[in-house]
Amino acid sequence: MKDQVDLLVHSIGQLCTVPSQNGGPQRGSALGTLGLIENAAIAVHEGRVVAIGSDIELRDRFEGATTLNAEGRLVTPGLVDPHTHLIWAGDRADEFEQRVAGATYQQIMAAGGGIVRTVQATRQADLNTLVEQSKPRLAAMLAHGSTSVEVKTGYGLSTPHELALLNTAALLDSEHPVDIALTFLGAHAVPPEFNGNADGYVDLIIDEMLPAVVEWRAEHWPGTLFCDVFCETGAFNLDQTRRILEAAAGYGMALKVHVDEFESLGGARLAVELGAVSVDHIVATPDDEIDAIAASNTVAVALPSTPFGLGQTRYANARRFIDAGAALAIATDCNPGTAWNENMQFVMALSTRYLHLTPAEALAAATINAAYAIGRGDEVGSLEVGKLGDLVIWDVPAYQHLSYRFGRNLAQVVVKRGKIAFHAWWAGVVL
Ligand code: NIG
Ligand code: FE
Repeated sequence: MKDQVDLLVHSIGQLCTVPSQNGGPQRGSALGTLGLIENAAIAVHEGRVVAIGSDIELRDRFEGATTLNAEGRLVTPGLVDPHTHLIWAGDRADEFEQRVAGATYQQIMAAGGGIVRTVQATRQADLNTLVEQSKPRLAAMLAHGSTSVEVKTGYGLSTPHELALLNTAALLDSEHPVDIALTFLGAHAVPPEFNGNADGYVDLIIDEMLPAVVEWRAEHWPGTLFCDVFCETGAFNLDQTRRILEAAAGYGMALKVHVDEFESLGGARLAVELGAVSVDHIVATPDDEIDAIAASNTVAVALPSTPFGLGQTRYANARRFIDAGAALAIATDCNPGTAWNENMQFVMALSTRYLHLTPAEALAAATINAAYAIGRGDEVGSLEVGKLGDLVIWDVPAYQHLSYRFGRNLAQVVVKRGKIAFHAWWAGVVL
């Protein structure tokens, strides 16, 4: 008698389990450890992995209620996208045209464009509209292989509008197969009504928004809630960043920080000091702060879609982070200003060219390390018995192809918690 399981994926040509390193992210020279098994199978029951092993052995042991024949293809853990600004209304295609004609992101921001333009459009949208506009982006993320996605607020910038974005995220999380990790980013920009009075807005965040968000969390969000700050010239300075993060930590929120996207204000060092889960962007991070990150548990999240989206040539010095022993992850930064990209495959393609990661390192940075960047490394990011049954059958024979090729979706079947959540109609029949 065979054991009955919900899902058996067999005839896997190459299975990458992408294991954690001593119960943590892959660091330094361990980055890119793939846990390769050839001719493999994997069994999932009640949403979790119950067995991984040789194809012959598992087919002998298990009978799947659903069986997927991978026909010799590559299988990896579901990708994890640890930094997105998923929820917004409208677009900024006109600003893209201005940038192509030579204007810089900061010039557009200083002239009243940028984030606050999207804030205006987002404030005018009701909950329904926000869900309707954001859901196709989340669906695209899933279709390209992401099974867990971090989502930030940050286009509301008033207490009721930020709460509306939190409600949108909670609704998407409950309605959609993708699991959402949630971040409050009230400190994304200074809203127009506080023009010239950033400190006044910081007071509002600390005195009104954070207490309201904490109250909302108690009722609507049992998981971790992160607090993030955009620490950058034109957004929030180091003192303001510290005030907000310390207040959030006082409420038991976990921390993430946008640092060094364009210039360094010392935000990375501050984030490490405060025990942030991640520091994100890290393009302009000085060497001594890279060393401080490497000596900490803070995950460094590189976002190569952003310089690419801005047409810039300066990318995070990822090799310096890896050589120092830091835990490096990668993410899309999906947002309407700098990087409207839902696709982590493209982030892997960029990471191999411009961050100089190997294809194996890019895959680990997009899975196990990305999972640690959202505090979920014990549940997702690798294929291990007991973890969630989140996996992708790719329409390629080996992991190198995920970075080597670009420009078309290589995901064939995406499985979330043991259930088929996406199946590419163009890529043969495996069901
Ligand atoms: O990560 N840096 C701040 N936030 C986004 C840009 C958001 C926008 O332009 O709308 C980023 O690049
Ligand atoms: Fe961002």
